[in-house]
Amino acid sequence: MDVKSLAVVGAGQMGAGIAQVAAQSGVQVFLIDLDAALVQKALQGISAQLQKAASKGKLTAENLEAAMARLHGTGSFADAAQADFAVEAVTENEGVKKKVFADLAKALRPDAILATNTSSIPITRIAASVSNPERVIGMHFMNPVPVMQLVEIIRGAQTSDETYATTRALAEKMGKTTVVSKDMPGFIVNRILIPMINEACFALQEGLGTAEDIDTAMKLGTNVPMGPLTLADFIGLDTCLSIAEVLHKGLGEDKYRPAPLLRQYVDAGWLGRKSKRGFHKY
Ligand SMILES: NC(=O)c1ccc[n+]([C@@H]2O[C@H](COP(=O)([O-])OP(=O)(O)OC[C@H]3O[C@@H](n4cnc5c(N)ncnc54)[C@H](O)[C@@H]3O)[C@@H](O)[C@H]2O)c1
Repeated sequence: MDVKSLAVVGAGQMGAGIAQVAAQSGVQVFLIDLDAALVQKALQGISAQLQKAASKGKLTAENLEAAMARLHGTGSFADAAQADFAVEAVTENEGVKKKVFADLAKALRPDAILATNTSSIPITRIAASVSNPERVIGMHFMNPVPVMQLVEIIRGAQTSDETYATTRALAEKMGKTTVVSKDMPGFIVNRILIPMINEACFALQEGLGTAEDIDTAMKLGTNVPMGPLTLADFIGLDTCLSIAEVLHKGLGEDKYRPAPLLRQYVDAGWLGRKSKRGFHKY
């Protein structure tokens, strides 16, 4: 199926990025969140991003206008009933995601594909919330979506070949490179990345170095664009903790236990960039 219309559920940092890139690729997008104010905020953010790109000569005024015209904000799944494909990018919580999938399955056509942008939760478990799990798949974009090249595709136990082929074609239409991961907690990227971030939290907790020293050591010592604590702030500490919990529970090994300091920061509401304070202040 050539995807011409897309429902994006969750207008946070990931949902907004997915909506922006899809609209720029010629796809009609229905962006959905819990309330209209969140959707409007996301649409304003996308407009600002596109205007910035246009001012740098990376986008024509005509393409900017066309992309914005393809973006439709809504608070209701019913408005997206004709969408060919849905990507869910709500909070990293299994119960919340299962409810969204059950609602999407009721609202959309029976042949519409239902993808989740989950960072860690097994696709097979999310797929169990709908009656035809062969159309459910993991489509894991990286943050920030307009910049990052990768999409990890995860097939659940029952995902069909057609669902996989359509998902891969959509990712490529959006200019992304895909890899395939088995349906295991954290998939490839977060199975490796989150234990490193978690170890940096333990290092900070033990006073191995300051947050600045830990980040500078890893940035300059391993040639990555940002240190692990800065990256954790960028991802969102609540999201990092949720992924660490999924790894710990799903893989059952003590080495994946979340650092108490990470848990404490989340309890304090220090969620990183999105709350203006995490391991660093913004
Ligand atoms: N942040 C990252 O770096 C990153 C990277 C890849 C994947 N992800 C995954 O993407 C998903 C979203 O992450 P985010 O960073 O955009 O989070 P976020 O907190 O920025 O946004 C989540 C959005 O979901 C909305 N929401 C919650 N429940 C909803 C519901 N029932 N219906 C509609 N909207 C609902 C919230 O209002 C919020 O706007 C998570 O599954 C996360 O693991 C995040």
